Amino acid sequence: MKKTLLLVALAVLSLVGKVRADEGMWLPMFVERLNYVDMQKMGLQLTPEELYSINNSSLKDAIVGLSTGPNPRGFFCTGEIVSQKGLLFTNHHCGYGDIQKLSTVEHDYLTDGFWAKDFSEELPVDGTSVSFLVRMEDVTEQVLAVVNDTMDWAQRNRAIREKAKELETAASEDGKYNPIISSFFEGNEYYMFVYQVYTDIRLVGTPPSSVGKFGGDTDNWMWPRHTGDFSIFRVYADADGNPAPYSPENVPLTPKHHLPISLDGIQKDDFTMIWGFPGSTERYMTSYGIDYNVDTFYPIIHEIFKLQTDIMDEFMQKDASVNIMYADDKAGLANTWKNFEGQMIMLRKNKVAETKAELENNFAEWVKANTNRVEEYGEVLNTLAENYALISELSASIYYPNFLTQTGAIAIAAEFMGYAEAAQGKDKEAIAAAEEELKAIDADAFFAETYKPLEDKMLVEMLKLYYNIFNAEANPDFYNFVDKKYKGDVVALANDILDNSIFANAESIKAFIEKPNAKKVEKDPAYIVLNSMISHMMNGLAPYRMAMQVIDENNHLFVKGLREFYAETQPEKSLYPDANSSLRMSYGSVQDYQPADAIHYDYICTANGILEKYVKGDYEFDAPQRLLDLIEARDFGQYADENGELVVCFLSTNDITGGNSGSPIMNAKGELIGLAFDGNWEAMSGDVNFEPRLQRTINVDARYVLFVIDKLAGATNLIEELTIVKSEPQTEETVEMTVEE
Ligand code: ARG
Repeated sequence: MKKTLLLVALAVLSLVGKVRADEGMWLPMFVERLNYVDMQKMGLQLTPEELYSINNSSLKDAIVGLSTGPNPRGFFCTGEIVSQKGLLFTNHHCGYGDIQKLSTVEHDYLTDGFWAKDFSEELPVDGTSVSFLVRMEDVTEQVLAVVNDTMDWAQRNRAIREKAKELETAASEDGKYNPIISSFFEGNEYYMFVYQVYTDIRLVGTPPSSVGKFGGDTDNWMWPRHTGDFSIFRVYADADGNPAPYSPENVPLTPKHHLPISLDGIQKDDFTMIWGFPGSTERYMTSYGIDYNVDTFYPIIHEIFKLQTDIMDEFMQKDASVNIMYADDKAGLANTWKNFEGQMIMLRKNKVAETKAELENNFAEWVKANTNRVEEYGEVLNTLAENYALISELSASIYYPNFLTQTGAIAIAAEFMGYAEAAQGKDKEAIAAAEEELKAIDADAFFAETYKPLEDKMLVEMLKLYYNIFNAEANPDFYNFVDKKYKGDVVALANDILDNSIFANAESIKAFIEKPNAKKVEKDPAYIVLNSMISHMMNGLAPYRMAMQVIDENNHLFVKGLREFYAETQPEKSLYPDANSSLRMSYGSVQDYQPADAIHYDYICTANGILEKYVKGDYEFDAPQRLLDLIEARDFGQYADENGELVVCFLSTNDITGGNSGSPIMNAKGELIGLAFDGNWEAMSGDVNFEPRLQRTINVDARYVLFVIDKLAGATNLIEELTIVKSEPQTEETVEMTVEE
């Protein structure tokens, strides 16, 4: 039964294969044809129509993408609608930017949390938008109809972009919808997703960071985890339920569907389903791409981001206002460098490049056996190898200067390049125009929401890093400047910039704008450094871009070949598209794992772990006294499990990645049992290769979320608004019947 179904799917769809639970981020549109039988066997009790329907309300209508602005092209997180009045759950780390922007030292919602007692107290957020998927559609044929064999890669992509734009415009119905066409399988298929985007979003509730970010960056990307990683927003609409910009007249949205929340809890092997907007995976990356990332790209970014995080941390921990200022930026940087660190270790430990190299050898053998294939794919792997080698050589001279030109006075100097260049010429009109443009510069804006001691240290340390990475041969302009003018003392250069550059403070910038003088800019140390960095970067930029384009083109070709290879050699093999910020469904089960020999990790963790990890006054492991008291008193109310414990987080085998954060994890009945918020350390290589034995999703348990809302915050208004359900335990008989159906 399963086989025939899937063979039909293979013929029709080419998005294909033997469905295996856990691995795969599937398009909901194909659930009936590809996944349904499997999901039902695993315990799912909903019909395909209840999951995804474009005519009737279905589960998909409760899943939203979080982004910025009314026309997003992708989503940074996922949310789910949990009430008839447009209440939305997402992660604390997803709402973090909004919570930060709403926080002041007097009203520090990051530190203290926030709970609106009624609609009137809800706080409008600035910029965040919520997208509901209306429908999706395969547009591969229309899109690829515009390409032909005479086009080179750049022409092909331009033609595709134009066609996609045209289709999107037509589907937008004069701006009513926001359609997004995305590439699948490295440009081998195209799908259109049509969204309705709401922009009046308000903060309803958030726990303090000592709950929502408990464990901080130390625990990030790791299990066991004791984080209450959730925050609550509400979607507002005009009186007709349509999207509208913020207005006090707007009303809470009545959604097509909202998720009930289950108090049943979880057992090992229970069916779980996660829907959301995974951002990007690289499951078809070659061994060459992996080597490039591990040996070159990740170390560079890791070094820069870690340095920046450490500097921010130092000042943030000393001053509440500085903490608020930099909280979101720092969380993003720390999240990325730790991710890259994990990937560097685990891609090697889990031998992912070796696994891919073996596949590449088999692919190459298959290509060799047929002259047509040799013609088309004979060079693809060599070309990838060569071009990754090329960008490996160029990367340092692109990325280091790139980040330096975004630092402090050097970044500000960049805003004055247009003027300086015009002023060097003789064209009076051009000079006048450039001077006029200077007047539009808001000098204070450069320094708003920044803390001078932190920024100063950042400049010093970034310049030190840069000077130490490159020698005179690699970076002659900068090196000579530091050696000649500052006797090789890069800190002296940094101090000269801080003390004497026009661009180091708002007053001198304003004075300069009043009386612009090209000579002064040219002699400015920040400006000189900026120019040396740009010339450093420019040396390699053209060949780097060219190589990147060749890599892109050949990844497309490789994936095309790989799909033919699999179709011929392993027709039952599962090929699902990489994540690309489109709505996906993943299903699996609640599972423990063994991170290393002789070590077993349970699939749940409880509030007892909060007491164990708690460090009074610690930046990451402090916890609210009231929470500690409730745990000590074991006052968990209806949120305790069958053993009287309060489950905080649990593990499942679902295949997710960044962008899925905030996604609902649901049980067999489509009820919310938690929110996905992280992956685990041992499987940090998972975006490139799924590791069934090791890879887990970390979810905050819905019962802990409700406990925090109800018992810790006392926000009973929200508890009353939610649809909380608890079922009778199933008897043996009913369980068997479900399986056989
Ligand atoms: N690792 C999580 C993710 O990328 C983000 C967790 C945020 N927490 C933190 N401590 N930075 O989805």
